Amino acid sequence: MQTVRTVDALRKAIGALRLDGGTVALVPTMGALHAGHMALIEEARRRATHVVASIFVNPIQFGPNEDLDAYPRREATDAAMLEKAGCALLWAPDVAEMYPEGFATNISVGGVSEGLDGAARPGHFDGVATVVAKLFAQVRPDVALFGEKDYQQLAVIRRMAADFDLDIAIVGVPTQRDDDGLALSSRNAYLSDEERTAARALPRALGEAASALAKGEPVDEVLENARRRLADAGFGPIDYVALCDATSLAPLERLDREARLLAAARLGRTRLIDNLRIVPE
Ligand code: PAJ
Repeated sequence: MQTVRTVDALRKAIGALRLDGGTVALVPTMGALHAGHMALIEEARRRATHVVASIFVNPIQFGPNEDLDAYPRREATDAAMLEKAGCALLWAPDVAEMYPEGFATNISVGGVSEGLDGAARPGHFDGVATVVAKLFAQVRPDVALFGEKDYQQLAVIRRMAADFDLDIAIVGVPTQRDDDGLALSSRNAYLSDEERTAARALPRALGEAASALAKGEPVDEVLENARRRLADAGFGPIDYVALCDATSLAPLERLDREARLLAAARLGRTRLIDNLRIVPE
């Protein structure tokens, strides 16, 4: 596996990969790879001839009080994992290569990026949409893969790809979880042992809420019970527990179409998110 750090070197390497007429898949990441990321690489291998992964801790998607400096960085370990998984190319630019002096463009996706994490983390999805648009322009993949774990991010990227008429298939990959149900995340490394045990309450609260919704219990009561479960387990503040339309992410008062149950809450200094697919009977 080759690692490239400049747009020029990337273009040459992609050109060389494409010589065989095969297809290219892109898996964008911020590194500190775990089995969740590797599921995207495996799916990418099934969907394209060549897999390109990117590692870039994107400063413009972090808020001023967020964990940009603390974000785990371990490129050598990541590169070894990618190589073993059959990745052809690692795109790992530095901040000056991605955002050279004078960089002034911002991509803001309306609607779908406004509530939930968009409300809790102002500017976050602009930063995501802008860097992903750049990654798409740099790599020009046939297919790009994103995890359902960051469900709103996936919805924002689908909207952007549709709105810009991008000829890139956007593929969502199911959330990979630890044995106790906690969604894998680079940020789980911040949890103390005690917090890691308490964190199970997040997937459990969502699972219980999903069963209650399936039984026809009222949406507002189900969401309130889930918030209480999280607070009782030591989560706080709870940014949201919401039932939303699966595509637009508009809030739903009744379960009358394919929906997503989404939650975000802080446990100590770590912010955790999770979501489940909910379909009416
Ligand atoms: P990062 O958090 O590194 O995640 C990279 C990709 O891995 C995302 O598509 C994310 O949804 C997916 N992923 C993370 N944990 C997962 C899990 N447990 N199961 C399945 N997929 C999982 O998301 C980002 O980076 C950035 O915002 C990025 C898209 C790279 C733009 O900077």
